[in-house]
Amino acid sequence: MASLSERDKKYIWHPFTQMRDWEATEPLVIERGRGNYLYDTEGRRYFDGVSSLWVNVHGHRRKEIDEAVIKQVRMLSHSTFLGLSHPPGIILAEKLIAIAPEGLRRVFYSDNGSTSVEIGLKMAYQYWKQKGENRPLFLCLKEAYHGDTIGSVSMGGMELFHEIFRPLLFKTVKAPAPFCYRCGLGMKNDSCGMACSGELEKLIKENEGKISALVMEPLVQGAGGMIMHPEGYLRRARELCDKYNILLVLDEVATGFGRTGKMFACEHEGVSPDIMCLAKGITGGYLPLAATLTTEKIYKAFLGDYAEFRTFFHGHSYTANPLACAAALANLEVFDKDETLKHMPEKEDALAGGLEKIERLPHVGDVRRKGFMVGIELVKDRKTREPYLPAEKIGIRVITEARRLGLIIRPLGNVIVLMPPLSSTPAELKKITEITRKSIISVT
Ligand SMILES: Cc1ncc(COP(=O)(O)O)c(C=O)c1O
Repeated sequence: MASLSERDKKYIWHPFTQMRDWEATEPLVIERGRGNYLYDTEGRRYFDGVSSLWVNVHGHRRKEIDEAVIKQVRMLSHSTFLGLSHPPGIILAEKLIAIAPEGLRRVFYSDNGSTSVEIGLKMAYQYWKQKGENRPLFLCLKEAYHGDTIGSVSMGGMELFHEIFRPLLFKTVKAPAPFCYRCGLGMKNDSCGMACSGELEKLIKENEGKISALVMEPLVQGAGGMIMHPEGYLRRARELCDKYNILLVLDEVATGFGRTGKMFACEHEGVSPDIMCLAKGITGGYLPLAATLTTEKIYKAFLGDYAEFRTFFHGHSYTANPLACAAALANLEVFDKDETLKHMPEKEDALAGGLEKIERLPHVGDVRRKGFMVGIELVKDRKTREPYLPAEKIGIRVITEARRLGLIIRPLGNVIVLMPPLSSTPAELKKITEITRKSIISVT
């Protein structure tokens, strides 16, 4: 019989993967996980340095989550949420509202980050429609990433992922990303951020009355290259939304569930959105689940007589899957039990310590970090900030070397991303930064 990797190459089309390259290499087939480590079919161990694409929170095979899922399997694996309800869905909604930023009171479930954003967009648009206003535009940021479905791609601003689909997308207004390292003004301070928010206001004014919502990733634009917003930018965005009466949709898909050091990134700036999109870490990385949270004000705009059709016509086969809800509930319990967020500062210190050494390397242009979200931008020339060309595959070469040394990470172009599980120990964080440093040295 053909080996697993041969059968993989014969039958599978992997996401975000140049399959010609894939076919030319030996795929890594992961068989099991334990704690912060993954094990391949040959029994080799790797540290899960990107939390299995930013989803894992408390490690693999976490006893409490395993048991919660098994217990739920014995009760009910799935039943529709259209016209019916179930205990884990109800209890989880109550818990999410208890930890959510002030004002968010309603939970609309779905099953991945992209759909949580789609729902946010449709909710915002229909909200204004039902208030008697037609607002077909959304304001969003360049370099934004909100997922791969057409609505979320419309909100996106990454040339590489999104440009080819441009003719299929609906119209949006794009503000510059507050990307200090590459903003061109050469400033790396708060006034830079304020210049960007000035641009936001200008665009809102130019399109007054037509914008449903400002849609953005709070504090960190993840897939865009771990772009960290200057302090105050999000607060200013909230003020502008209030001033011009547009909704604020925050995509906390990547930043939520402790990744930036607080449960939700918007807490760093004391901001509450009108709509908040959650996914990834919600189940601790166990099962696909997403939630779009909103206020009572928005929810109430959808109430009316059946025949008025103010209903929110959106739903999925697996909306609020009970197994996923049970995993999410157990994940939230582990947050309490382990005091996950309380231990973040000491762990962040360990991570920051390791990154300091990386920062000094000659081909490292910028090291950006918020909590456990890290981007290391590699440059050909540190002084001029000249990027490596795509053909040089610098990011891919670094992560390949890291893998050889027992660390699984992924690049975003020339940016090496580290996003370890929150359960990582200070010693493990030191170790992974050391492997990353060695890998960068050996490739550059
Ligand atoms: C900020 C943000 N929004 C949305 C998504 C899309 O989530 P999913 O891949 O679950 O559809 C991602 C995925 O990386 C993300 O980082």
